[in-house]
Amino acid sequence: MFEEGIVLKQRYGDENVFDLSLGNPVMEPPVEFDQELRKLAEQPLSGMHRYMENAGYPETRAAVAAQLSLETGVKLTMKDIIMTCGAAGALNVVLRTILNQGDEVIIFAPYFMEYLNYIENHDGIARVLPSDEQFMPKLDVLKAAIGAKTKALLINSPNNPTGVVYSEALLRQLGELLHEKEAQYGTQLFLISDEAYRKIVYDKLKYPSTLRYHPQSIIVTSHSKDLALPGERIGYIAVDPDCSQQEELVNGLIFCNRTLGYVNAPALMQHIVRHLQQVTISVDEYQRKRDFLYDHLVEMGYSVRKPQGAFYMFPKSPVKDDVAFVRELQQWKVLTIPGGGFGSPGYFRISYCVDDKTLEGSLTGFKKTIEKFNLG
Ligand SMILES: Cc1ncc(COP(=O)(O)O)c(C=O)c1O
Repeated sequence: MFEEGIVLKQRYGDENVFDLSLGNPVMEPPVEFDQELRKLAEQPLSGMHRYMENAGYPETRAAVAAQLSLETGVKLTMKDIIMTCGAAGALNVVLRTILNQGDEVIIFAPYFMEYLNYIENHDGIARVLPSDEQFMPKLDVLKAAIGAKTKALLINSPNNPTGVVYSEALLRQLGELLHEKEAQYGTQLFLISDEAYRKIVYDKLKYPSTLRYHPQSIIVTSHSKDLALPGERIGYIAVDPDCSQQEELVNGLIFCNRTLGYVNAPALMQHIVRHLQQVTISVDEYQRKRDFLYDHLVEMGYSVRKPQGAFYMFPKSPVKDDVAFVRELQQWKVLTIPGGGFGSPGYFRISYCVDDKTLEGSLTGFKKTIEKFNLG
């Protein structure tokens, strides 16, 4: 889609193509980011571009731990944090560390499409389970799916592609279920929480943390979205301080961060983000874009669940064949992604982290396309 978008833009001009296919934030990083960057350029720290501990600078890890402790109410220290090359790097490091060949990782559809690749990278097997109509996990299905080979449950809230946020009650139920299954099989089950969009939640919703509900929790996240820095590759892993064999696990993660070839998270970004743990891009701006698009789509007759976070929408395709629908939208130069790519055919994903002009310009295509299918 990325490549197709470039070709279309070359042919028809940027302003005539409405690319809603990518999760590439339109916002610039907050001003505090520029201030820190300028400060470092004007008063460089001695040795600031050298190698450091593979887990990252102690000061950065301590700042991350302090912020997470504040948000979750669980006391973390720098020893629980490993700085990584984005959330993608974090996920690969975690999977490399915990998986043996043939171990299963459970994910719910729709899922972030790279999960399949990451699990396969480390000889794991992805067990994909369906969600309910509200895109929430079906607990009875999960209960039946966890077996002796299960190593982890990987969840993503706020979710890409649906925008749903898991409730505290659901996290509690997931934690209880994992605990029950650990006892049944005599295994250790990790709850990997992909929180790439943790700070982008709407309507004053409070984000509940898995750390409170399962001691074998591992958080993976980044500043790609909350500080709009996806190209800078800065993220982290946080391990629940109550995890059994915690020190061994953390040492394994640090080892894999090194040997997978990441070595360490980018030094410059580590120097900067340690001062920005309390800073976030404007969530109100994304909420405004969500409301604009959601209201228009509903008015046109689309069936869509209102996102509670992240910056994606996952409407039902007006026809069964989501690929045909996305192709038709493309006739109007509106680019989206078929739900099949996320393991949920019959839907399509819209990314609304784009400028207002693009969102406004896409409306005609959405309207004409649903009209065509409804009349046809
Ligand atoms: C759910 C989810 N997890 C992980 C990532 C990877 O994030 P990063 O750019 O920090 O590696 C993304 C990126 O879009 C994502 O949507």
